[in-house]
Amino acid sequence: MDGLSRADETPPAGRFLRACRRQPVDRTPVWFMRQAGRYMPEYRAVREKHSLLEICRQPELAAEVTLQPVRALGVDAAILFADILLPLIPMGIDLEFAPGEGPVIHSPVRSANDIERLRPVQVEQDLAHVLRAVRLVRGELPAPVALIGFAGAPFTLASYMVEGGASRDFRRTKQLMYTDVPAWHALMDKLATVLADYLVAQVRAGAQAVQLFDSWVGALSPDDYQAYAQPYSVRVLEAVSREGGPVIHFGTGTATLLELMRDAGGDVIGIDWRIPLDRAWERLGHGVAVQGNLDPAALLAPRPELERRVERILDQAGGRPGHIFNLGHGILPETPVEAARAVVERVHARQLQAEKA
Ligand code: CP3
Repeated sequence: MDGLSRADETPPAGRFLRACRRQPVDRTPVWFMRQAGRYMPEYRAVREKHSLLEICRQPELAAEVTLQPVRALGVDAAILFADILLPLIPMGIDLEFAPGEGPVIHSPVRSANDIERLRPVQVEQDLAHVLRAVRLVRGELPAPVALIGFAGAPFTLASYMVEGGASRDFRRTKQLMYTDVPAWHALMDKLATVLADYLVAQVRAGAQAVQLFDSWVGALSPDDYQAYAQPYSVRVLEAVSREGGPVIHFGTGTATLLELMRDAGGDVIGIDWRIPLDRAWERLGHGVAVQGNLDPAALLAPRPELERRVERILDQAGGRPGHIFNLGHGILPETPVEAARAVVERVHARQLQAEKA
């Protein structure tokens, strides 16, 4: 693939994986959640010809789109192009990505009966296209650039299944959780089984790290998180941790949940922008790595303001091993590619250690 091996952009071996393990690095590794997406002209060109699900189902296309931001931005990690909702399809969920609307689930799960009917998933067969994309990407990535696999966390996926799509307040999800506790636990149990198998299979196919996206878990109080979500995240995180690769545990709006998320598991805890990185890391303790925490909207700011915000996060990380620079949530479609590139350059410009072999 053209452009992947430009010497000036190829980071030294394993910067991202070293940081996940809290080992010293020469420069802070950086990647962006949703780094392959509509803000990139190369992605839009593929999307003109193919739907999102088509890209996900054709490993060659998924691999190509995964590599686009690696070439364009010089990031230290690639995240597999897929969607957190893909494993719901073989469970029997009828879903669609409606233009301008986000995901729409035509068969929402609202009762014990609906949950009963969900099908078990044979990951190696039912999600073979994802695993094939993992193998293709790993074969094409330059060695120092890590490949990250991912899955949605049980709570976040349950919320899509129950709400039927995006939600502001998750009222139907909580209604089920508070009204039919056994049904809720049955749903989370089924999801945890599928997601653990799915992440383990991604690691076995060549993903060197995985991220568990609990994007909407910040909607829960600490008590509800502990009772209704955490045990299932624990199961998924334990299963994939046994495979060895580092695990990133991510959520948004989690300032009141950080310690509980750390206790659930993960080598790296994702931090959104609503809490300063240094305060979050202090609360978590420095025995865990952190990822974050630039506000995605900062990439829409004038360059000096953007750079000031990048520098502030690097200052707060203080050169301590175990910081991965990222946004606090996914990159916005309005983001100028130049701004994303400027962030990568700025992060890489700061030398952390005398460079050693
Ligand atoms: O580059 C990458 O990050 C890899 C690809 C990726 C996608 N979805 C592709 C995608 C990843 C990691 C995801 C994860 C995902 N999907 C999450 C967790 C991350 C987060 O943002 O919290 C969630 C909640 C979803 C569900 C989902 N998929 C939503 C809410 C939407 C619509 C939002 C929008 O921006 O329109 C999607 C669609 C989607 N998945 C897009 C992409 C690039 C954009 C739509 C498109 O290209 O048509």
